[in-house]
Amino acid sequence: MTRKQPKKIGLAIVGAGRVGLIRGELATRHPEVGWIGLAEKNPERGEIVREKCSAEFVTTDFRELLSRPEVNAVMVSTDEHLHVDPVVFAAERKLPMLIEKPLATDLAESAATLAAIQKSGVDAVVGYTQRFRRRWLVAKEKVRAGALGEVTMVTSRAFMNRLVAIDNYQRSDNPAEISPMVISGTHALDVVMWLMEGKTPVEVYARSVNKALGPAWKGIDGTGYTITFDDGAIYHGVINWGLPEIWPGAVYSLEIGAVGTEGVLTIDDTHRDIVLATNLIQAEGYAPDKRRHVDFLTSYPVGDMALGELRGPMREETNSWLNRISLGVPTQHATAAEGHNRLMLTKAIDLSARLKRPVKLPISPEDEKQTA
Ligand SMILES: NC(=O)c1ccc[n+]([C@@H]2O[C@H](COP(=O)([O-])OP(=O)(O)OC[C@H]3O[C@@H](n4cnc5c(N)ncnc54)[C@H](O)[C@@H]3O)[C@@H](O)[C@H]2O)c1
Repeated sequence: MTRKQPKKIGLAIVGAGRVGLIRGELATRHPEVGWIGLAEKNPERGEIVREKCSAEFVTTDFRELLSRPEVNAVMVSTDEHLHVDPVVFAAERKLPMLIEKPLATDLAESAATLAAIQKSGVDAVVGYTQRFRRRWLVAKEKVRAGALGEVTMVTSRAFMNRLVAIDNYQRSDNPAEISPMVISGTHALDVVMWLMEGKTPVEVYARSVNKALGPAWKGIDGTGYTITFDDGAIYHGVINWGLPEIWPGAVYSLEIGAVGTEGVLTIDDTHRDIVLATNLIQAEGYAPDKRRHVDFLTSYPVGDMALGELRGPMREETNSWLNRISLGVPTQHATAAEGHNRLMLTKAIDLSARLKRPVKLPISPEDEKQTA
């Protein structure tokens, strides 16, 4: 293999919230990042993040940022429903992108975004961060190499503290756009679909419950779903993001089992193996709650702060993407097409739960509007 000469990166970050800041701070430490610019619609937040990332440029207008001559790579880390405009603009400029999940929250917008990316031919990937954890990589490798024989049945159980749900409902003026599947279940779904790569889903049946989050937030607590594949394989999943605030998992608690004709693979990702109990309130984690004194550590999916730096999957993912841009090396990031497929599946799951009947896959934006 010939050694590649690294390309210097002029990085644009659109959306300097929690994730924009994490990725920006990591980028400042990457040897090939020579320039960082930010677009953040909240100017005070933009200034804070500019300082923390030693960014050369900050604006409230992403078009101004993406038109700068220094920019040759883009991270889009705006809120879930606000990815589309900057992604389409960057695609028109043929700028490679790392887009946060989900690709969009509306199926028609997601399809239009994918079409813009494919038309421009640009390298755009979606931030399914869990693909960068060793346990899922090892699982992927074993399934890929045939250790299970033919995979016939997969199950996943994702339990989440309701703090994440409340944070999402607070940030949106349209609760119908927010669902546990679209926002959070998509991570578990991506891991499973990645393990089942090559199989074609043909039908989904789902049901939801809404008794814990419904009254206050007009939200969904949880959804159970069964996806069948053209070869007869079945994937059964449950996501519930309505667990009480005192539930020790900061964010995600996941179990996956995959059964094949020759083997079985079980993955306990519940984080019950590292438990902290303290009288003192925790400063870290997702929107810490004053009533929570017990934590399953490492259940914050992006990673954990230790010795002043974020350790864990988002660090691996960000550095890996910067290497992809700088060195042209292949990475396991989800493609934009996979990102669109995950949104389509999560929308189909929500549709089936709403209609209370099975739904054929794939669904179109018109299908999604069905009410009966
Ligand atoms: N991969 C993961 O594990 C993971 C974890 C958390 C969040 N996320 C995803 O990252 C994205 C951002 O989440 P977050 O928690 O950082 O949200 P956030 O609310 O903290 O940050 C979003 C920021 O984008 C800014 N913004 C919105 N529209 C803009 C625009 N057009 N131009 C400039 N700035 C704009 C907002 O002002 C805000 O500061 C979401 O898609 C979310 O789902 C991924």
